[in-house]
Amino acid sequence: MKTLNNISIPHPFPYQGSKRGIAQYILPYFPSSVRCLIEPFCGSAAVSIVAAARGLTKQFWLNDLNEPLMELWKEILERPNELTGDYEKLWNQQYSNKKEFFFRIREEFNATHQPHHLLYLLARIVKGSVRYSAEGKFNQSADNRRLGMRPKTMRQQIFGVSTLLAGRTTLSAVDFRIVVEKADKDDLVYMDPPYQGISFTRDHRYYNGLSYDEFVDVLQIMNEKDVSYIISYDGQTGGKTHGKLLPRRLSLKHLNIHTGRSSQATLLGYNHETVESLYLSPALVERLDGEERNFEKESQIQLEFARI
Ligand SMILES: C[S@@+](CC[C@H](N)C(=O)[O-])C[C@H]1O[C@@H](n2cnc3c(N)ncnc32)[C@H](O)[C@@H]1O
Repeated sequence: MKTLNNISIPHPFPYQGSKRGIAQYILPYFPSSVRCLIEPFCGSAAVSIVAAARGLTKQFWLNDLNEPLMELWKEILERPNELTGDYEKLWNQQYSNKKEFFFRIREEFNATHQPHHLLYLLARIVKGSVRYSAEGKFNQSADNRRLGMRPKTMRQQIFGVSTLLAGRTTLSAVDFRIVVEKADKDDLVYMDPPYQGISFTRDHRYYNGLSYDEFVDVLQIMNEKDVSYIISYDGQTGGKTHGKLLPRRLSLKHLNIHTGRSSQATLLGYNHETVESLYLSPALVERLDGEERNFEKESQIQLEFARI
């Protein structure tokens, strides 16, 4: 478990693009009173978990287009005991031939979409980098140097997350547009869409791409409804900017957060420092101004912290 200001932060499963490492730098932009924190692209929901551990908001809404992933979330919140028990059984069975066992479970998962199978696959693949074929089949390979998280540790993490979020979290597996449409002025929407560089697949249940123009159109509508939102949207590695910046006409506050090395860069074998872009919506900036929060100053402090 990661510790933040002496608070243990559990995490449910490895997930590529997880904001676990930088969640603490995003929290200072939360207004003091948030009715519901909404994560339309939740993945492993790193920001919601840290926000819950810090007691920053009482209600949560986690959504991801990936249906089996959201089924796994349901098990984490509602049946952590059964889920971790099933994981333990799989983990112990793999000893005979862990390579072959991984492929067998992957095949079973593709046929039946059982949550404990997905948990096992996530624990065994390289850096939690989920990959689906164009037909929507999970096709990532195992990291055969590792067995995946030990059942005892998995149990602690899953129970930790479940305790933080169960009973006050809504789950869904729909396109992000359907979720943000329902956001209210008192809510806060945290959006971490897929990287712009990652290509589309034909199966839209698992597509890992998002059209820039469509995303910008949705943000425009959210602005018109005065919705408070924070976006993580690409950034820079080794001085190179990935993807297009969001347009000025949205009047977003753009901040750069230095985060050390990105998992994406590490995966590709680079050793560059990464700067993540954070954008704050006009309604959120106004809300923070009303609370007399000097986020320019907070941002400076964060940059210094991030470099330690
Ligand atoms: C960068 S990851 C989010 C990581 C997350 N912040 C975390 O801490 O783990 C982006 C997620 O968006 C999901 N996604 C892709 N397109 C989507 C869409 N149109 N609507 C909702 N979710 C989508 C992907 O399945 C993926 O889990």
